[in-house]
Amino acid sequence: MSLNNLKPKVTEIVANTNETIKNRLLHICELLESHIDYYNWVGFYFKNGDKDELKLGPYVGEPTDHTIIPFGKGICGQVALSNKNFVVPDVAAQDNYIACSITVKAEIVIPIFKNGENIGQIDIDSNTSDPFTKDDEHFLEFICEKVSEII
Ligand code: SME
Repeated sequence: MSLNNLKPKVTEIVANTNETIKNRLLHICELLESHIDYYNWVGFYFKNGDKDELKLGPYVGEPTDHTIIPFGKGICGQVALSNKNFVVPDVAAQDNYIACSITVKAEIVIPIFKNGENIGQIDIDSNTSDPFTKDDEHFLEFICEKVSEII
């Protein structure tokens, strides 16, 4: 299924107030992981209260030990500080990278903004090398905007 065709489904999930916010975020992860073959781990991290660290939220894929990530550490921690999308075509080429699984070849992290503040991010791991394009960035930015409406 094309990324654009998934957008109405994302909108539907986000708007479903019968579900908790946590469940809606989980359903977004499930939708993405099941429909996009190169999205192999899909999860959300959010700023942990007042601390300069990220805390793992809903996710789909292999369980990870990295439930807390200090700002600045790994791809996720860098995005918490840079406020910018981070597309990693080859994780092996990154010095500041936290490995969650040896099968992961590439990663994309897109920040979520609420009232201009970077409050979290969506993180995708891929078992395919260099799979992410501008279309993925735009699609995930759309998701982050939708998510920020309910957080
Ligand atoms: N690889 C990430 C850590 C999170 S896992 O991918 C689930 C990073 O370098 O920040």
